[in-house]
Amino acid sequence: MTKLNENFLKLQANYLFIDIANKVKAFTSNHPNIDIIRMGIGDVTRPLPPAVVEGMKNAADEMKEEKTFRGYGPEQGYPFLQEAIIKNDYLSRNINILPEELFINDGAKSDTGNIGDIFSIDNTICVTDPIYPVYIDSNVMCGRAGNLTPNGWSNIVYVPCNSENHFVPELPHQHVDIIYLCYPNNPTGTVLTRSQLNEWVKYALDNGSIILYDSAYEAFICEDDVPHSIYEIEGARHCAIEFRSFSKTAGFTGVRCGYTVIPNELVLQSSDNQSIRLNRLWARRQGTKYNGTSYITQRAAEAIYSPQGQQEIKANIDYYMRNAEIMRNSLIKCGLEVIGGVNAPYIWVKTPDGMSSWEFFDRLLQEVHIVCTPGVGFGPSGEGYIRFTAFGTREQSIEAMYRISTWI
Ligand code: MLT
Repeated sequence: MTKLNENFLKLQANYLFIDIANKVKAFTSNHPNIDIIRMGIGDVTRPLPPAVVEGMKNAADEMKEEKTFRGYGPEQGYPFLQEAIIKNDYLSRNINILPEELFINDGAKSDTGNIGDIFSIDNTICVTDPIYPVYIDSNVMCGRAGNLTPNGWSNIVYVPCNSENHFVPELPHQHVDIIYLCYPNNPTGTVLTRSQLNEWVKYALDNGSIILYDSAYEAFICEDDVPHSIYEIEGARHCAIEFRSFSKTAGFTGVRCGYTVIPNELVLQSSDNQSIRLNRLWARRQGTKYNGTSYITQRAAEAIYSPQGQQEIKANIDYYMRNAEIMRNSLIKCGLEVIGGVNAPYIWVKTPDGMSSWEFFDRLLQEVHIVCTPGVGFGPSGEGYIRFTAFGTREQSIEAMYRISTWI
């Protein structure tokens, strides 16, 4: 008899955002005429920057000519995009990255979810809590998370981020092998300063741990003392993998493109004492399971780095961050406890009157027709919070705040 991977049965029935979408669908089918404002999943609303569309169109035109048509691309991505990333995202901050260390992908979700393939199942995982659910779910699927207990998954060390510690995670009190950090943080919208991130890098170097650093929201950082890349921190090349995404930066949630950096210094010992470079292992994994991001998409991503592309994405990022400012101010005026929204497009809000996350979610949906994300969906420390995204339109953001302030 064929056997299942029963680890999947340990998961909740649906991925968080599918659960939310189902609830909203049920509500809209009963109330078809109600105008719902969606501030749940962090999906962008600004259209693609014209420079990006131009890059795509030109690439599409190349594909129709025999001479310029492209089939399978280079496994780690086209050199034109690798060079643009290295020059603009890293050299501009005095960080040297080599093309062999850079992997173009279809967005950070896939690689943060798949990277576990190259690590033994015996590793102890550490997550800041609350956190983007992909990190935990992907470890549950391969059996690395252990079993679900009232305090979370048995093989996962949770580092709480809450109002008591001002949402700054303490270092783990025990040895952990793999640490997921997401900064600017999804869902709380908080950041780590240079010295705070330095502590994590030091912990990883002292403990022989690997940090999986998801900086998908780095383009939204406004404050000076906040590192954009973990490689701004000394020693990080010896202990960190970095994930980036064009999804939120350039409106690529539907287009799909991002990248992962695995420095040459990341070397682990095999059980027969060979030194294995992690980027070679990842290249092997990708070569087998991923056929590359399309040429048209990579040309679109390259166009982000043109002067026009940079101007256009900045305008979109400013637009979302202005939404965030409007939302923050309005929610604070309502007397709510509000976190984030300064260096990130997410706003983390304490539910009033001790309501649970799902209770407040339901009331917002039923009574003012606004969709948020219940904080508990991001982990145990998210209970009693909800998350709003600032990725809506300006009109929706203002209208949602109006509805909440007249209701609350
Ligand atoms: C979110 O809402 O947390 C994100 O949009 C999810 C994602 O990027 O996959």
